[in-house]
Amino acid sequence: MMKMKIGLLGFGVVGQGVWQLLEMNEQEMLTHAGVQVEVLKILVSDVHKDRILSSDNPLYTTQWKDIVYHNDIQTVVELMGGINPAYQCIKEALKSGKNVVTANKALLAQHGVELTKLAEEHKVQLRYEASVAGGIPVLQAIRDSLSANVINSIIGIVNGTTNYILTRMTQEGSTFEDALQAAQEQGYAEADPTADIEGFDAAHKLTLLASLGFKTEVSFQKVYREGIDKISPLDIEYAKELGYVIKLLAIARCLNGRIEMRVHPTMIPAGHPLAAVNDAYNAVYVKGNAVGELMFYGKGAGALPTASAVMGDVINVARHQQQVNAPTCPLHYQPSGKEVQAMDQTSTAFYIRLLVKDIPGVLGRIATTFGGCGVSLSSVIQKGETEPVSLVFVTHKTRELALRQAVKDILHMDELVEVASVIRVEELS
Ligand code: NAP
Ligand code: HSE
Repeated sequence: MMKMKIGLLGFGVVGQGVWQLLEMNEQEMLTHAGVQVEVLKILVSDVHKDRILSSDNPLYTTQWKDIVYHNDIQTVVELMGGINPAYQCIKEALKSGKNVVTANKALLAQHGVELTKLAEEHKVQLRYEASVAGGIPVLQAIRDSLSANVINSIIGIVNGTTNYILTRMTQEGSTFEDALQAAQEQGYAEADPTADIEGFDAAHKLTLLASLGFKTEVSFQKVYREGIDKISPLDIEYAKELGYVIKLLAIARCLNGRIEMRVHPTMIPAGHPLAAVNDAYNAVYVKGNAVGELMFYGKGAGALPTASAVMGDVINVARHQQQVNAPTCPLHYQPSGKEVQAMDQTSTAFYIRLLVKDIPGVLGRIATTFGGCGVSLSSVIQKGETEPVSLVFVTHKTRELALRQAVKDILHMDELVEVASVIRVEELS
């Protein structure tokens, strides 16, 4: 039996999930994994908050140094989130010879390369399975189990909060605000939910997936990002009519030596397996040149699913303690020479909803403008009888640059009231 003494930095949704999981499955971990985990200290900022352990519990501290420099703690589990002081805590822990397990994708997307190098230098482990897709063990699968493949694409629904919101809006016609509140109550959302809504959280996760999948360092700053804040109930309704579902997709592709990385609301065919991923569930769809297509599916957020990935890492740290000379989870790679594709050079189909004055010939003039920019249309629908009317266009696959030029030209037309929505469409075939 191996013993692993840990300190928890943070005792919120996930931290308390870890405690609950230890209580629930302690015997399982001991008998089958051969690891006995003991929590020696817990960091919070306010001990008086209502939690599963009462405020007079001697494990609590409000000083991170009590954990990071604790003589008996072997593994620091960082579940506080944010950049500071988490960044400083992890650096100090690694330098002090402690292993670190974290769920902090925001921190890893920005400082992961430096931190994994630091872990190697100090011959300790840094693991972060819970940072992408909560309970789904997708990072280890991509890094280890698929290492005999060249991975061509990774497409994920990796943010539970936005998937929950879009599902409620699609299935029940809920308002954006009500659905967001419900997601927050379930503990899915980040401390600041704009990280979820505006696609930052998915972009952080995509940075880690692309680095591990394409074995190259990629910069979070180069991920193109759009959130779901502009998706209206009308777009959801029209998507249904056209046979699509709207999802916030995180897309990484490696094509002709270039990498494409983008996060944006996307219309996908209603029959595609990703379209059936609802509520706070996540899925990551991977194509490898040997394995073919794979889809990893499960709970991407919430206390126990995330704690499952955190504790899996803690157990792996214990099991690999003797092999620390081999890099465990690097995010630093030799330069691959692969450049990130500029967004205006990417190609997708588009859904465009315009509000226009109902004047004879308006449809024809707009169609001609699209054609003039080299944008070919696959369908057109007119909606509404009172002015302004909605014109919905779906294009064939086209360069982003051409579409932007067409929208710019349409913006100058007198008949236009508003460009209400532009949403990319992926057939995913
Ligand atoms: P949370 O509920 O907000 O909990 C954060 C905890 O950290 C709280 O106990 C808080 O203490 C403590 N904390 C934060 N800053 C601190 C500081 N400066 N000093 C002392 N204590 C501090 O967050 P969470 O949802 O558990 O998320 C934790 C991490 O897991 C984040 O990186 C998040 O992105 C990641 N994650 C979350 C989920 C999820 O479903 N929630 C899933 C996957 C990954 P107080 O309670 O006293 O304020
Ligand atoms: N806020 C994140 C989400 C938590 O909604 O997916 C899991 O990383």
